[in-house]
Amino acid sequence: MFKPLDAILVSDAPVRDRETLRILLNHNIHLEHGAIVQYLQHAYAMGEGGIGTEVISIARAEMRHMKYFADLLVDLGGKPTLDRGNIYFEASSPTAMMTNGIRAEEDALREYRLQLERVDFAPMQRLLERVLADEEYHHGQFQGFEEAFLSGAAQAKPDAAFPSPGPVEDPEAMALLGSSFTARYNQILEYVQYYFESRDYHARDFLEETWTWAMRGMALFADELSEHGADPAFTNAPMPVTGDLRVHLDRAIALEKANVTTRSEQLRCPLSSDLKAMLKNIQSHEAYNVMRLEDYKAKDLSLEPAPATPPPDRQPEIPLPPVRSRASLTVGSLIQP
Ligand SMILES: [Fe+2]
Ligand SMILES: [Fe+2]
Repeated sequence: MFKPLDAILVSDAPVRDRETLRILLNHNIHLEHGAIVQYLQHAYAMGEGGIGTEVISIARAEMRHMKYFADLLVDLGGKPTLDRGNIYFEASSPTAMMTNGIRAEEDALREYRLQLERVDFAPMQRLLERVLADEEYHHGQFQGFEEAFLSGAAQAKPDAAFPSPGPVEDPEAMALLGSSFTARYNQILEYVQYYFESRDYHARDFLEETWTWAMRGMALFADELSEHGADPAFTNAPMPVTGDLRVHLDRAIALEKANVTTRSEQLRCPLSSDLKAMLKNIQSHEAYNVMRLEDYKAKDLSLEPAPATPPPDRQPEIPLPPVRSRASLTVGSLIQP
């Protein structure tokens, strides 16, 4: 649940206790999450190229901020959650989207500056200073984009707005793509959650790779929806499972398998050849993810060192130690010291 900053910092006292630091860090994760979806939503509406692409690169910076806050939170023994702060979605024009971007950056600047004044914990102070430098830069970027739209120096897709003014072309196909977009967004949130909870380098690298490509699939859905007058919906309803890395991998395998099946069903629908080509491409990534995730589990088992075997001419005349049961080797073992 998103908690406003004044409900966390209830006094002027310096913040040193871990519990308040953890609450602040989760609060910041929620702020960054809100900014990410706001910027993506507006970039999708504006279309690729020009300022739309610039806004996506700002959203990517916010993703890094979210990761940095989450890493520090986990270092402090906390658990990141993926709620969202205030989001200024509604915008009747590209100029209004930029005004909303300025507003979101001003929120972040105000909140992070106040935290920097109060927090008495060097790693968080350094991080806040670093993030503030980015937010100041973003604030200036959004101001420049707003001016460019106002002066006519920049243009976006005609009628770019959120919500889209419509009409929605091919509504049945768009309903199908829209549900896939929202499902993918929530799957990405799950993978991000598992990534934050894991301290295993290989698992983190793989989960990041998986969600990076899933985001690319999500953007392909969004582009089609926008081009047909429909809005992609960032409905926030992830259902992460609790457990160790093995549990998380099993869940990811089940999700990716379900995606492959959904894509096969969608490919049997009366869709344009362009949409089918896109779905096939997305499905190939999802099928690959299933193989890689299963391979990752198997690889973990094979990583366990085999018992050393001396050369045949020096075989001792004593019984070999019993072979360790494979059942004792779990993917979760990777995250154990
Ligand atoms: Fe940020
Ligand atoms: Fe920012």
